[in-house]
Amino acid sequence: MRVGQACPVAIPGSTLITQISELVTNDGGGFAAITDAALVIEDGAVAWTGPAGQAPAADSVVDAGGRVVLPGFVDSHAHLVFAGERSAEFAARMAGQPYQAGGILTTVAATRAASGTALRANLRRLAAEMLRQGTTTFECKSGYGLTVADEARGLAIAAEATPEVTYLGAHVVPPEFAGDVTGYVDLVRGPMLDACAPHARWIDVFCEDGAFGADEAAAVLAAGRARGLGARIHANQLGPGPGIRVAAEAGAASADHCTYVTDEDLDAIVSAPLVATLLPGAEFGTRHPYPDARRLLDAGATVALATDCNPGSSFTSSMAFCIALAVRDMRMTTQEAVWAATAGGARALRRTDVGHLGPGARADLILLDAPSHAYLAYRPGVPLIAAVWQSGRLAAGAAP
Ligand code: NIG
Ligand code: FE
Repeated sequence: MRVGQACPVAIPGSTLITQISELVTNDGGGFAAITDAALVIEDGAVAWTGPAGQAPAADSVVDAGGRVVLPGFVDSHAHLVFAGERSAEFAARMAGQPYQAGGILTTVAATRAASGTALRANLRRLAAEMLRQGTTTFECKSGYGLTVADEARGLAIAAEATPEVTYLGAHVVPPEFAGDVTGYVDLVRGPMLDACAPHARWIDVFCEDGAFGADEAAAVLAAGRARGLGARIHANQLGPGPGIRVAAEAGAASADHCTYVTDEDLDAIVSAPLVATLLPGAEFGTRHPYPDARRLLDAGATVALATDCNPGSSFTSSMAFCIALAVRDMRMTTQEAVWAATAGGARALRRTDVGHLGPGARADLILLDAPSHAYLAYRPGVPLIAAVWQSGRLAAGAAP
């Protein structure tokens, strides 16, 4: 960052980023951008946006050199508390094996056996990986512990890294409860919830054949809500099912996956309303069909994109990769996909301070080494993130 000329009217500590080819602000209800723009950061927040020619003075100046600035990505769905990896399972799937959520138990065993230090180090490595790729807000779930102590431990570690912590004790039924789903659900909504609620903001349940049914999912979400946790759900990922409707009835913020959506589910999403959080990394990694984003958007649904970063179905931390898949294979426009990965994620987390760059927003932003936001999909796999600011501080990359 170079310090500009001292200016008597500049606000102390303020930074002007100017010569921005396209400033994605998401000001208002949908994608919004200003061309030939500038932005002023003050006290960790956005103080001003507008045409570069009208920018006020500031203490320091960053010349974006005709590149894009956009809000930091909001990754509203990730499972980062785990040990081990499942690359052999991925390779077998790519060779024709179906995805089986039973692979989750492989990670549960590795996670239980791992030290807190190892779990923390793995989470921090992934969080740093996310930040370098422009993710400035992320959600993190438990769900690979599945005992009272292991779930509480995972959530405490997650809470060190993000305020968006989600209790997913109802991920699958662990082996010691095999054949006793009711017994396990009673633990999840009883003593395990007691131990976990203090560390979490959200509660989640995997509502799917082979995991938890409608009544069980509803009971888990209701118990969480009674403890002050917000509800979210894994729904309709591997086949049609009741998850989306359960989420709507529970007043959930978001239904995640939404890969198999009936007309009734679509009505529930739109009228609840529920954010439909689409996780194309999971379809990439399981060879399931991509969710029909176009149908959701055309029906008026609010769509978010997230990575679902986890060692089984979707081991990517790249929001740019998800944007590229959404544009190429889910018929989202580049504007819709960028909005979904920023403001959409913020909606899914019920956050108003992130996902946009209107005045007052947290100064979480990405400098993209490209002249247009479309490059996120146009140049898939290319590391275009030049710099990332979090609350107005350079957090990754290098400013010009
Ligand atoms: O979101 N659907 C359930 N949970 C994860 C998969 C977890 C795993 O395979 O380890 C998901 O895709
Ligand atoms: Fe998930």
